[in-house]
Amino acid sequence: MADVFQPTVKPAVIEDLIDLDAVREIMSHFKPADFQEAQELILAALQEVNERFGYVSIEAAEVVAEHLGTTASRVFGLLTFYADFRTKPRGKHFMLLCHGMSCYVMGSQRLVQELADTWGIADGETTADGELTVQVVNGCLGVCDKAPFCKIDADYLGDLTTEALNSAIQRAIAGTGSWKDAHH
Ligand code: FES
Repeated sequence: MADVFQPTVKPAVIEDLIDLDAVREIMSHFKPADFQEAQELILAALQEVNERFGYVSIEAAEVVAEHLGTTASRVFGLLTFYADFRTKPRGKHFMLLCHGMSCYVMGSQRLVQELADTWGIADGETTADGELTVQVVNGCLGVCDKAPFCKIDADYLGDLTTEALNSAIQRAIAGTGSWKDAHH
C-alpha cells in the first residue's frame, strides 16, 4: 500500500488582529462626493481590506461603514453575501480550488475529498495548525484548459492530481512565503 501523507499538526497561530489605523488609512483614499457614490464604493473598500488583511473583521467593517456613512450591518450583510470575502482570518497559506464545470468534469471532487481526508479541511476552513485555508470556487477561474486548477499563495497550478495537490501544499508550508505574496 502506498504511504499516506500525514501533515504535522502544530498549535494554531493565526494572526487575527486587523490594524484599524491601517484600515482608516485605506479608507482615506475613498472620497465620495455624495451618499450615492459612497454606497457604490463599499464593495471596492471591502475588497481592499480583504486583500490586505485576508479578511474583514467586524471592527474593520465598522470603520468602512463609518467612513462611507452607512451602517455596519449593511456592510456586514454585503460581506457575508459575496463569497469573495472572508470574515475570519486566513491561515498562513491560502488556496483557491476551482470547482467550476470544467474542473469538476476533470476531477476536482477528488481534490476536495483529498483536502478533507489528508488535511482535514473543507471549503472556507483552516487546518488545525493554522497553515492552510482553502476556498472552493464554484465559478470558473478562467483557465479551463488546465483543469483541474488551483492557486496557492502566488502560484498557479494546473492539471492537478491529488499527489500534485499534496506536494504543492507541502512546498508552500516548507517555504517562506504566504498568501500575502499574491498581493504585495
Ligand atoms: S472551471 Fe475551473 S478553470 Fe474553468
